Amino acid sequence: MKKILVTGGMGYIGSHTCVELSQAGYLPIIVDNLENSKIWIKDRLLEITGVDIPFYQADCADSVVLNQIFEEHHIEGVIHFAANKAVGESVQNPLKYYHNNINSLLTVLEVSEKHNCQNLVFSSSCTVYGEPDTLPVDESATIKKAESPYGSTKIFCETIIEDFIRSSNVYKSVLLRYFNPIGAHHSSLIGELPLGVPSNLVPFITQTAAGLRDSLVVFGNNYNTADGSCIRDFIHVSDLAQAHVKAFEFLFAQSQSTCTAINIGTGQGYSVLQLIQDFEKTTGVKLNYTIGPKRAGDVEAVYADARKAKETLQWEAKRSIKDSLRDAWNWEKTLLK
Ligand code: UD1
Repeated sequence: MKKILVTGGMGYIGSHTCVELSQAGYLPIIVDNLENSKIWIKDRLLEITGVDIPFYQADCADSVVLNQIFEEHHIEGVIHFAANKAVGESVQNPLKYYHNNINSLLTVLEVSEKHNCQNLVFSSSCTVYGEPDTLPVDESATIKKAESPYGSTKIFCETIIEDFIRSSNVYKSVLLRYFNPIGAHHSSLIGELPLGVPSNLVPFITQTAAGLRDSLVVFGNNYNTADGSCIRDFIHVSDLAQAHVKAFEFLFAQSQSTCTAINIGTGQGYSVLQLIQDFEKTTGVKLNYTIGPKRAGDVEAVYADARKAKETLQWEAKRSIKDSLRDAWNWEKTLLK
């Protein structure tokens, strides 16, 4: 059974990816400092997969621990999720973002190189496109100067990986550029656990529906879009997680060094107001919301050209927006208990 090191494997996308890896016959090995997760997620992973997934509570920028993991296990690939991801916080505290997000990647690459582990999947973002010139946006689009230090770290990390791979003739990497992951595992055993007040849309919606927040503010209804609200490509987190399994199948099949960026989205643009309406229709819960000013740094519209994922990875999103919203709501309800 191939072992895959998953940094940040207890987090939102990381935990769903561990489920998919395990169910596809891999053994994930998790390293996570639990800064943005909870230890009980480990038991939930066991409940879903039937596998007691090895877990190391550590910062993946800690090279001593990382070396120890590589010595204890024959690791054949790494998925690097571990990173800070709050756009607003990154504007307030850029050094934290540059320090954590860059150092953790450098440590992962150095330790992988030392142990001759040649396959890396990197958790990148559509934020690298900024406000795209054409939609849907494909992987050849210009990389724009990021709106936030968080976004800059994704661009820098992609560049670091590209330079590292160029310097070798053995290493291989897929840079997965995620669009907007939402929803939760259909079992409602794992899902998103926002710290404090959620900054992302769907956790804010579900917390408002649950009565934990008074009202959702829609950030702007005077964008140049059909209903005036922003357009995003919302993708079910389990679909996104499955893309990582496909990325490893692709990497393991490559005999030559390679580094390729791939969009992971549905290919469909959906507006914030449409999403709210669909949430109400799907769950039968009326949502209290108001229209507020635009949020600084938001792009008007972004959605994926998802053809490369289909051609290269034989992957495409299967779940609908309604599936995602139903699963997000079911998960929120379990948190209320
Ligand atoms: C952004 C990044 C994404 C990154 C994520 C990390 C872009 C295009 N996307 O996602 O790469 O991984 O942050 O957090 O840069 N909204 C409201 N009210 C709310 C919350 C959100 O109206 O209370 C709206 C936003 O204005 C936006 C949409 O909902 O139009 C989605 O927002 P959010 O969930 O925060 O994700 P992005 O900002 O798209």
